[in-house]
Amino acid sequence: MNSRFRASALALTIALGGLSALPACAQDHSRHAAAPAAKPWLDPKLDADTRADLVLKAMTQDEKLTLVYGYFGADMKPKYTRIEGSLPGSAGYVPGLPRLGIPAQWETDAGVGVATQGSAAEFRERTALPSGMATTATWNPELAQKGGAMIGSEARNSGFNVMLAGGVNLVREPRNGRNFEYGGEDPLLAGVMVGAQIKGIQSAKIVSTIKHYALNAQETGRFVVDSRIGQADARTSDLLAFQIAIEASEPHSVMCAYNRVNGDYACENDWLLNKVLKQDWGYKGYVMSDWGAVHSGSKSVNAGLDQESAGDAFDKQPFLASVLKADLASGAVSQARLDDMARRIVRSLFASGAVDHPVKIAPIDLAANGKVSQADAEEGIVLLKNDKGLLPLALKAQKIAVIGAYANVGVLSGGGSSQVYPAGGRAVQGLEPKTWPGPVIYYPSSPLKALQARAPQAKFTYDDGKDPAAVARLAADSDLVIVFADQWTTESEDAPSLTLPKNQDATIAAAAKAGKKVVVVLETGGPVTMPWLNDVGAVLQAWYPGTNGGDAIARVLTGEVDATGRLPVTFPASEAQLPRPTLDGDPKTPDALFSVDYSIEGAAIGYKWFDKKGLQPLFPFGHGLSYTSFAYSDLKTATAGGKLTVSFKVTNTGKRAGKDVPQVYVSPKAGGWEAPRRLAGFQKVALAPGASQAVTLTVDPRLLATWDDAAHGWKVAPGDYEVQLGASSAAISAKATATVAAQSVPVGLLK
Ligand code: BGC
Repeated sequence: MNSRFRASALALTIALGGLSALPACAQDHSRHAAAPAAKPWLDPKLDADTRADLVLKAMTQDEKLTLVYGYFGADMKPKYTRIEGSLPGSAGYVPGLPRLGIPAQWETDAGVGVATQGSAAEFRERTALPSGMATTATWNPELAQKGGAMIGSEARNSGFNVMLAGGVNLVREPRNGRNFEYGGEDPLLAGVMVGAQIKGIQSAKIVSTIKHYALNAQETGRFVVDSRIGQADARTSDLLAFQIAIEASEPHSVMCAYNRVNGDYACENDWLLNKVLKQDWGYKGYVMSDWGAVHSGSKSVNAGLDQESAGDAFDKQPFLASVLKADLASGAVSQARLDDMARRIVRSLFASGAVDHPVKIAPIDLAANGKVSQADAEEGIVLLKNDKGLLPLALKAQKIAVIGAYANVGVLSGGGSSQVYPAGGRAVQGLEPKTWPGPVIYYPSSPLKALQARAPQAKFTYDDGKDPAAVARLAADSDLVIVFADQWTTESEDAPSLTLPKNQDATIAAAAKAGKKVVVVLETGGPVTMPWLNDVGAVLQAWYPGTNGGDAIARVLTGEVDATGRLPVTFPASEAQLPRPTLDGDPKTPDALFSVDYSIEGAAIGYKWFDKKGLQPLFPFGHGLSYTSFAYSDLKTATAGGKLTVSFKVTNTGKRAGKDVPQVYVSPKAGGWEAPRRLAGFQKVALAPGASQAVTLTVDPRLLATWDDAAHGWKVAPGDYEVQLGASSAAISAKATATVAAQSVPVGLLK
């Protein structure tokens, strides 16, 4: 069990009614709508920098110190009682400065919606988006932004002005228990999609916290593991994903991670925080720690940490409180540094709108928000295999067997701090683990019921799938078999392997053996292996599909909407193909220091590793079928103004409306990259049958470049580059050559 929440296994109780009551101080701030002459920083017409400078001058030393130290927002009885002013069952709280009109910071997780912390007796019932991986599988930044705006509005209306979302850690480890929270394996795709989500969240005039910075790629040993990697490789992969997302969304906060990076903890890592984030990228927001990720006072602060989160509950000492005070007195930390920390925090509160638009509890339209989540889920579901047009489902079938994964009552969600509790209660009670990192929650949106509503004449029979022999009998007596299989993944532990748990491979194999048409629907955090793949007719990857997941699955299965998701992550054929066939670290000794050697793959993550090694995955990155068909033509490249642009035409050559995701990859003819090619652009296009659309994409110059340490920037080597257009990283249908001039690209954020 994860020590972060070890104590929460002692059942937490939250007072009835506590989740809707806002502490008095949260309502105070409306008083500050107009700027009294004595508080010029409250003038919304001034820019955030000026306002931060002004208020900083008025602050006492204690007020500055107040801003940099946070408290946990949930009770862990009997060990810990949340402090007054915090919101019950919440992630964190930093007191405000009412004298100056600076609100408290009420912090909530996370990327799929407004979570409740702890195994509390009462929950916030909120809308859950599909998992981050599912949203990324839409390859549709507009949907990600809408989803972000929706959960941001729920955060605001729940009394929160800091949302601990978007996770953009790349999938270096397909077994990572938190992959479901993140944006897949490619820096461009993850950066664009997570950036769009953060932009949406911040449109609610609150702070969004991009995380977990950086190289936090597995949960096993997450508090101690040392991620070893060359700096150039890191800048070309994980850090580039952060950089692209930060450029797209200007998140007002960054959360440093639990793990170490090249020896130093991420929250006391001068290279990550001071050098890359603040100096190279010129980041103006503040760095908050992950919960229990601070290990020092002056070392962290001097390395660039601005705020300690939940220090009272999870860190060994109140580092950015009493320890910092002593460090200031001894000169180990300068006054200028504390001023910078406090300034960054208030600047973000001004820049986000959190000061001018105080949060307050307000009604939430769960029905409308459920539709936002559903639209996202429908576009994120990936049709992996579809033999002989088995899907869309012929609802004329008389006897339909629906098997497994509690599909009669709900859909699965991912576990840990990001857990959103659903309206309508949990679809399945009593599952283990009940406490951290659980509970395991199925949202009450039943795929079976959604299918029944669409085929009232058919006879549906549900079987829980636990006994393969019973499954075989039911399948033999059915016209059509739909097997649901799932894999609960969670923060704080990794999946032991890519094999579906609970003997579900045997269930699917038993269904397939009966010789009937079999459709498999997977609800998993990320990739799994499929030993039965050749024996089933169709496979739909539904991830964790969120609040209205059952309806979303039914609509894709029946073809009410096209299948338009594409894989944001490679599905390996087996663990043997991975850079680390066996996970490093041992969950049984969580405190024993160890390292993971990410220089094995360096920047060649996911499809790049598979390409480089010539490995055949089970399903490649970018893959996903549609119910219609598309053709690409007129591929052209141009290099005007030092920018490579790629244009082409997409045509819907099938008989029904659909959406496609044409993908552009680039490959230097001279080689020299971490892998043969990189994703350089993509666009989701919606087309009526027979319709065409012209697409023009501009390639981010860093995706043509390599990191040059001597120049401290990116260098594009002059020469010929192959531009490849395809429906996945492994289905390239057109190629063109672009001759590119030498170019230097600065290290800073590109606008
Ligand atoms: C997680 C963070 C989360 C924080 C607050 C940590 O355990 O790693 O992602 O935001 O808790 O709940």
